[in-house]
Amino acid sequence: MASLPSQRSKGNSGTVSEVSPVPIPIMKTISRHYFGEEETKNVDIISADGDHRGFYIDIIENIEETYGMFVWPCSIALAEYVWQQRARFSGTTVVELGSGTSLPGFVAAKVGSSIVMTDNSDKLEVLDNIRATCELNKVKCEVMGLTWGKWDAPIFNLNPQIVLGADVFYDNKDFDDLFATVTFLLQQSPGSVFITTYHNRSGHHRINFLILKWGLKCEKLLDVFCFMPSHKAANLHGSIQLAEITLNVQNFLM
Ligand SMILES: C[S@@+](CC[C@H](N)C(=O)[O-])C[C@H]1O[C@@H](n2cnc3c(N)ncnc32)[C@H](O)[C@@H]1O
Repeated sequence: MASLPSQRSKGNSGTVSEVSPVPIPIMKTISRHYFGEEETKNVDIISADGDHRGFYIDIIENIEETYGMFVWPCSIALAEYVWQQRARFSGTTVVELGSGTSLPGFVAAKVGSSIVMTDNSDKLEVLDNIRATCELNKVKCEVMGLTWGKWDAPIFNLNPQIVLGADVFYDNKDFDDLFATVTFLLQQSPGSVFITTYHNRSGHHRINFLILKWGLKCEKLLDVFCFMPSHKAANLHGSIQLAEITLNVQNFLM
């Protein structure tokens, strides 16, 4: 693998000695994401009937594309879907898996969901970043370490009506663990649904195979470009699908 040459300096003796490279901190930024009417660009507007007309969410992220510290396109698509389906999210309990910067979770919180945002228990930086973003947006939410396929005590207290996951079909080796956690959560709350957005690179066939394997079924499959507003779609690349997945109750009746 190619690597940068290590930095070298001259010691007092005139010989050249090795010094360890100083780690360069990754630059952070705040990106602003708008939902709803254009004229609501700088304010949070709720109409007289209590319905949101629009708001924005500020997300703290890394400038570089880093796994859980960057707003991935799937997250932008899922957040827009939550906004468009806000009546369905109001008053519901929601858990987001592999939240990363958690844009869909923040939209759910804004439209009235009680939300638990989760990411890998080992990724303390990611979990701290979600907490900081909660404070920045003055949004009430719970942040929890949840590693897929692991059964730590807090997961047994979760009873979500909706489970969200943006770009969580990223690494093939994690798919089975992810489905184990999703199936567990869907079993915790009868009638619940897993709503996920993923790139086609993630392997349709493998996902379909795992849906069957875990006794689930796909209720809805959309190309996200069919619901994204054109100004947001223009910034998305590749083929992104949205799927709504539920327990296949027939498997449990047999
Ligand atoms: C591609 S990023 C997507 C982040 C965010 N949902 C988005 O779309 O912007 C995948 C996320 O899944 C999390 N993740 C990966 N493996 C995981 C595991 N085994 N358990 C829990 N979270 C995991 C990563 O930490 C990361 O935040």
